[in-house]
Amino acid sequence: MASHSWLMLDHESPRYRLPDDLRARDPMGGRDCGWVEQMLPFVRQFSQPGDTVFDPFAGFGTTLLAARLEGRLASGCEVDAGRIGLIRERLARHDLAQGTTLLHGSCDALDDAALPPFDLCLANVPYFGCGWTGAPAASQLYDSQSYAQHLDGLRNVFHRVRAGLREGGACIAMVQNIRLGDRVLPLAFDLARILGSLFVMEEERVLIYPHESDEPSTDARTDRRHEYALVFRKQRERIDLQATAALLETLRAQGHTFTLLGSFARWLQAPQGTPPADADIRVDPDPQRLNALLQHLRDQGFALTSWGDPVDLSLHLDSYRNRYYFRADRIDSKGALVRLDISYEQ
Ligand SMILES: C[S@@+](CC[C@H](N)C(=O)[O-])C[C@H]1O[C@@H](n2cnc3c(N)ncnc32)[C@H](O)[C@@H]1O
Repeated sequence: MASHSWLMLDHESPRYRLPDDLRARDPMGGRDCGWVEQMLPFVRQFSQPGDTVFDPFAGFGTTLLAARLEGRLASGCEVDAGRIGLIRERLARHDLAQGTTLLHGSCDALDDAALPPFDLCLANVPYFGCGWTGAPAASQLYDSQSYAQHLDGLRNVFHRVRAGLREGGACIAMVQNIRLGDRVLPLAFDLARILGSLFVMEEERVLIYPHESDEPSTDARTDRRHEYALVFRKQRERIDLQATAALLETLRAQGHTFTLLGSFARWLQAPQGTPPADADIRVDPDPQRLNALLQHLRDQGFALTSWGDPVDLSLHLDSYRNRYYFRADRIDSKGALVRLDISYEQ
């Protein structure tokens, strides 16, 4: 890929397009099918021949086909059984079915044996409110009943992706902000926030489709022919170690009690080897004391999140059951990060 931050997609090759007879078998007529041309540059830049490319939302197998065309192994999850059949047939017609693993269901339900590690995750995510007309399935995100539920479902899937992606691998999600009636939902930006709680953001690219769409325009304001490719990496965050150590000292001096755990505690004892990516502290679950600590951090310019969601103070611990920890991040004007992960007994 050239060094542009955008990719102009002006036509789809008939060679790679989802064949009309397969499209006709889909309850949505394949209208959510992406382009192989959209995926190829990302496969080439973010993986090597022989690597495994994984798509958690395999759809019609567009990512899988792009991966196989470039000599990568392909693996994909798809919750819709009909579409699994379409992928099989599409890849077979290209004589590329070998080297592809298809898994029926949602990847967050799969263990390591069912979903072996992969080198790149490349996906077009399901949109909220798309009017799914296919078979119902419990984990079908096209059928989400609310936007919050949809974001939770995406978070669960990408949480699983994080576990399967090799260290250093890229996770690339293609997504648009969406208009539902009079309302614009910032799906791309909300997903970026979720991915930011799991991976390290590398960049975003804009994909532009100047072609005429077959669909009638539902929006008179713009033709909305662009989407984002959100590029994240599974890698350790680099934090400002001295500033983090100084913060811990200040917190202690101010009477906040906690136990320092894990890699930051080890690094303080012996500051060589891999630097820690955060400081893990354990506090007792007294809501008032926890609230005072979080409030203090917020006053010092820290952003407080729980699994990527902003945290409201005063704290109602019940709303955070099973979330295990809060994260406090402060980024200064030079880009230096101090990160505290605060866990408590539940
Ligand atoms: C945007 S489409 C992907 C299209 C695909 N990129 C292509 O061009 O061939 C999203 C797909 O995600 C599937 N899906 C929705 N929820 C899912 C889940 N929890 N796990 C796996 N697949 C899911 C939908 O059935 C749909 O086929």
